[in-house]
Amino acid sequence: MTDYKKATMDILSKKAEPPLCFLHSFGCQQNVSDGEKILGLLCEMGYGVTQDITAADLIIYNTCAVREGAELKVYSLVGNLKNLKKKKPGLMIGVCGCMAQQEKTVENLKRSYPYVDIIFGTFALGELPRLLYKALTEKGTAVDISEYKADFPEDIRPVRNSGFSASVPVMYGCNNFCSYCIVPYVRGRERSRSPEAVLSEVKELAGQGYKEIMLLGQNVNSYGKTLDEPISFSELLRRINGIDGDFRVRFMSSHPKDVTKELIDMIIDCEKICKHLHLPLQSGSDRILEAMNRRYTSEKYLETVEYARSRIPDFSFSTDIIVGFPNETAEDFEATLNVVRKVRYDNIFSFIYSKRTGTKAAVMEDATPEEEKKERIQRLLDIQREISSDGFKRFIGRTLTVLFDSADEDGYCSGKSDEFIIVKAKADTSVIGSFQRVKITKAFNWALEGEIING
Ligand code: 5AD
Ligand code: SF4
Repeated sequence: MTDYKKATMDILSKKAEPPLCFLHSFGCQQNVSDGEKILGLLCEMGYGVTQDITAADLIIYNTCAVREGAELKVYSLVGNLKNLKKKKPGLMIGVCGCMAQQEKTVENLKRSYPYVDIIFGTFALGELPRLLYKALTEKGTAVDISEYKADFPEDIRPVRNSGFSASVPVMYGCNNFCSYCIVPYVRGRERSRSPEAVLSEVKELAGQGYKEIMLLGQNVNSYGKTLDEPISFSELLRRINGIDGDFRVRFMSSHPKDVTKELIDMIIDCEKICKHLHLPLQSGSDRILEAMNRRYTSEKYLETVEYARSRIPDFSFSTDIIVGFPNETAEDFEATLNVVRKVRYDNIFSFIYSKRTGTKAAVMEDATPEEEKKERIQRLLDIQREISSDGFKRFIGRTLTVLFDSADEDGYCSGKSDEFIIVKAKADTSVIGSFQRVKITKAFNWALEGEIING
C-alpha cells in the first residue's frame, strides 16, 4: 500500500523549508475540533502551521452547511484565492467539512472555482494525504465525499487552538432528523467513541494542565447507546469527574427530548461539571416543534428546567432558537417568547430559519415575509437583553470562578464563569489560562464585571 504521507512529502520537500498550511474552520465546535485533527495530520506529515494566509503553501477551508450565510461566505473567500493562486502557482487549496460533503457543492466548486485542488467531506478527513498526493500527481480536482465507516484515526494528535481549553468529541453524527437541519445528511448516523478513548484523552489533557474540557456531540445524551457495551452519558460524566486534575467540564449539545433527571442529578453531584446546560429550544410552539420533528413539547422542556432549578435555583441555561420556521405565525412566535420569559436564559443564540435543500422543511410552504422574520428576531433579542441584564444582577456581590481566556482593552481581561457567562476584570495578561475567583461588582446585559480576589 502506498504511504501517501511520505509520497506527498517527497514531492513537497524539494524546497529547503517545510511547507506551511493555513486552515480556517467555520461553524460549530465539532467542526473546529475536526480542523484541529486535520492540522494534527498535516503536522505529522511534516507541514508547519501558519496564521498568515499569504505565506501558506496549502490553504484549507473547513466549512459549515447549517445556514446559507456560512456557505456564501466560503464561496466568497474561495473566490478571493484566485489571485493568490495566480501569484503563487504551487499553492494548493482545499475545501472540506459539511458543505463539501454535499454533491452540489462539489459541482459548484468544480464549475466556478476550478483552481480548488482538493474537496473532501466530513468522513474523509483521514484521506487527506492520499488526496494531496493525487492533486500533486494528476490533473483536475481530487475529490472524496465517500461515507467511510471508520472515523478519524484515534492515534493522530490534534493541534489544539488553545493551551487551556480543549474540545473532546464523544460522538459523531446525528439520528434525529429535525426537519430544518442538514447535519444528519452531512455527518451521517450517530456513532460514539469508546469510553476508554474519551477517558484516556481527558486524562492526558488534565495531565497537560488543561483547565476546561468541552465534550462534543450533536446530541451527547445519545452517547454510548450504539456501543457493544452500552453506557450512558451520565455514567461517562461520572467517570470523567473521577479523573484527577484542576479542570472543569462542559458539554454540548443536549437534546431536550433526551435529558433525564439522572443526567441533571449527575451534573449536580459531580464537582467538575459546570452547572450549566445548553438546551436548544428551537421553538416554544408545540405546533412548530412537531413540524420540526423535535419530539418534545414546551411543557416537557419546562419540566426539565424546573427540575434543575428545584435542585439548584441558579442553574444556568442557554439555548438556540430558530425564528421564522416555515409558516411560524405571530402566535407561534409569542409561544417562543413565553418560554424564553419563563426559563430566563443567561444566553440565547438565535437564527433566522435558513432553507436547506434536501431537508424535510425545505419543501414546506412558507408565507412569512423576510421582513417580518427580521422584526421577530429583533424582538426576541430585545426581550433577552432585558432578561439577561436583570438576571445577571443576581451575581452582584457573589464570587464566581472564572477561566480567563483573553485580553481586552484598557487593562482588562475576560473569561467565562462556570455558568458560561462572560466576566471581565482588571488584570494583567498573566491570568489568561488560569482560574481566578472574581467578586462581581457590575452587571451588563452581555457580561459581568468584578475584581479578582486572591486567596
Ligand atoms: N436554519 C437556521 N438555523 C438552523 N440551525 C440548524 N439548522 C438551521 C437552519 N436550517 C440552528 C439550530 C441549531 C444551531 C446549531 O443552528 O438552532 O441548534
Ligand atoms: Fe440537527 Fe436536530 Fe441533529 Fe441538532 S439534533 S444536529 S438540530 S438534526
